[in-house]
Amino acid sequence: MEPQSPFKPGTLAHRVALVTGGGSGIGLEIARQLGLHGAKVVISGRREAVLRDACQTLGAEGVAAHWGDVRRYEDCERMAAEAVARFGRLDTLVNCAAGNFLSPAEQLSSNGFRTVLEIDALGTFNASRAAFEALRASGDACIINISMTLHYGATWWQAHASAAKAAVDALTRSLGLEWGHYGIRTAGVAPGPIEGTAGMAKLAPSGGAGSATAAASMSGAIPLGHMGRRWDIAMACVFLCSPAAAFITGHTLVVDGAEWMCKPPLVPRAMVTRVSRGVEAKSRAVGLAGGGGDGGGGGGAPKSRL
Ligand code: COA
Repeated sequence: MEPQSPFKPGTLAHRVALVTGGGSGIGLEIARQLGLHGAKVVISGRREAVLRDACQTLGAEGVAAHWGDVRRYEDCERMAAEAVARFGRLDTLVNCAAGNFLSPAEQLSSNGFRTVLEIDALGTFNASRAAFEALRASGDACIINISMTLHYGATWWQAHASAAKAAVDALTRSLGLEWGHYGIRTAGVAPGPIEGTAGMAKLAPSGGAGSATAAASMSGAIPLGHMGRRWDIAMACVFLCSPAAAFITGHTLVVDGAEWMCKPPLVPRAMVTRVSRGVEAKSRAVGLAGGGGDGGGGGGAPKSRL
């Protein structure tokens, strides 16, 4: 059963949002939730049939779809213009269009690298730049860039997407810095593993990390114990678009159950206290016998051990 939104249905009333990559997956759920919270929504994407199906799913009067490729600046100009023509203004842009696949860096062609950089990084700039005048005219606008956590450390077979999302995060900060002056906030959302998405199917395909056992072990590597839902990402976007986030700009919100920072513990939880007490007792015994040992005292007088 779908969780209930903690936000009021009218939280985003009077807002008009353009969601690139809004025809499927996380983008579609973002578009759906923005609409359910009162926004008029324009979705864009490269596949007309997918956009048609998405409009049927969204099924509301306040939804429009426009074909376009974010790699082409003129397409982005057209999307922004059509959103204004249809709904009278544009005050919210969600940059969700992305492309990805697994590839070892030594097998990745220059064009493969460029393609992902162009969809994710150039596409985010193109859509933001093309929407700028409309966003500025609204006087109370926000841009949400959908990112990832791949590049916080380094991720196997993801050199292209890591570079692309690092650029997206840099844009989030730069536009946050430069466009606040115009009444445009810029924020990012960095999803972790989200169940049932094209991203998971591509990055953890069945037979690999997408198999049932591997999916369970992936959940085990997330401190919250489960993968995220598209709904979790959409709610983060509703929050960031809402007046509750009026003082947030230039920041990327990680929505991943702490997956990216999770390493297996060197000592299992059940053993920590026993092992730690044992180590401590031994070190104290050595310290007492040796009259201080290294004692952590930095070479000064031995500390009192009483
Ligand atoms: N491994 C290595 N290289 C790959 C690849 C793969 N799995 N898939 C595509 N490429 C390379 C192609 O070989 C090509 O390079 P080349 O000309 O040197 O051969 C380059 O990437 C462009 O591929 P192409 O299929 O022409 O690009 P496209 O614009 O039609 O598609 C993709 C872009 C490849 C990113 C495609 O997967 C896509 O449209 N994705 C959108 C949806 C998506 O990925 N969602 C998940 C987001 S996490």
